[in-house]
Amino acid sequence: MLILGIETSCDDTSVAVLKTEDERLEVLSNIVSSQIKQHAPYGGIVPLLAAREHEKNLPVVLDEALRATRYTIRDIDLIAVTSGPGLIMSLVRGVNFAKELAEKNNKPLIGINHMEGHIYSNWLPESSKALQLYSSIAFPALCLIVSGGHTELVLMHDHGKYALVGRTVDDASGEAFDKIARLIGLEYPGGPAISHEAEKFDATRYTLHVTLPRPMLHSKDFNFSFSGLKTSVLYLVRDLKVPLENVRTEIAHEAQKAIVDVLISKTMKAAKKFQPKSILLAGGVSANKRLRSRLAEEVSRLTPKTYYLEPALQYTTDNAAMIACAAYFKAKNSKLQDLSFESVEPDANWEIV
Ligand code: KG4
Ligand code: ZN
Repeated sequence: MLILGIETSCDDTSVAVLKTEDERLEVLSNIVSSQIKQHAPYGGIVPLLAAREHEKNLPVVLDEALRATRYTIRDIDLIAVTSGPGLIMSLVRGVNFAKELAEKNNKPLIGINHMEGHIYSNWLPESSKALQLYSSIAFPALCLIVSGGHTELVLMHDHGKYALVGRTVDDASGEAFDKIARLIGLEYPGGPAISHEAEKFDATRYTLHVTLPRPMLHSKDFNFSFSGLKTSVLYLVRDLKVPLENVRTEIAHEAQKAIVDVLISKTMKAAKKFQPKSILLAGGVSANKRLRSRLAEEVSRLTPKTYYLEPALQYTTDNAAMIACAAYFKAKNSKLQDLSFESVEPDANWEIV
């Protein structure tokens, strides 16, 4: 089966072609057109600008994604589009484009939840040559979903069957990275910028000895809170007695450490309670090196042995391959002819649980 994925929920325009054969998946193309340059001067995403860029980019990105394969739109068996959650104007552009494409070429269309797409990025093979057998992921799987808009712990009992374990009560972890980066004069997006800055940290030249809070670290539930951390950085920067340049690396290092500490602590607490067979990491923040290595280390210590999986780096941030992948697992269990283009509508607040 050939699945064409389309993703426009936020500021990336992406189209992918996924081939599935004998229960194996192969990403034939995954084109991502980033709008970072356009939004960077504003320190965050401007929704109107994002929608306009999607409209302009979609036909170009589609063309590129198909050209990278030996197939044409006629060969596609199913079109999958992100229909929520996300920025409504961005979602509308993607969904309308997908509907027109499906109608014109008489193809079935399926609407995919963006967060479910992030979860399914774990099923994608690292390179097009290395086909991955997805059956290695055992259920129940505990998923830590960390992105710019979401921070959730979800227990996945089977394909498409989710239960909420915990979520942020205020800012998402990616949002915390982005806001803190801005406060310490780093560019957008803040996650990679803070991570890069923190890598320069040298403990022997540690002058500020800053300790940021780990909000809700000891709360009895599995929820998160990150807005207090951002406020602490705000006051710290406001009251600095030394130039920000001198201590930017230390603050970046400590902020990253604080965010990762809380994410790991809650995930391990949930792992002990729910005893999942697998632990999966997903969402843009899953690109964070510290988070990946710390979580892998903690999971390796669990008894009984728990399978740990993180998405290949190219599938951590928004992309259409993950949307096509989620569609494959949905389509596997239903008849393609039952899917029709009329039933797909954008929903900015669509939650999987
Ligand atoms: O999943 P994603 O691409 O878009 C949403 O669905 O929100 O996630 C974007 C978020 C941004 O907040 C960005 O700063 C963060 O992921 N991010 C990172 C890293 N790369 C991207 N956060 C921490 N470390 C990174 N290396
Ligand atoms: Zn995302």
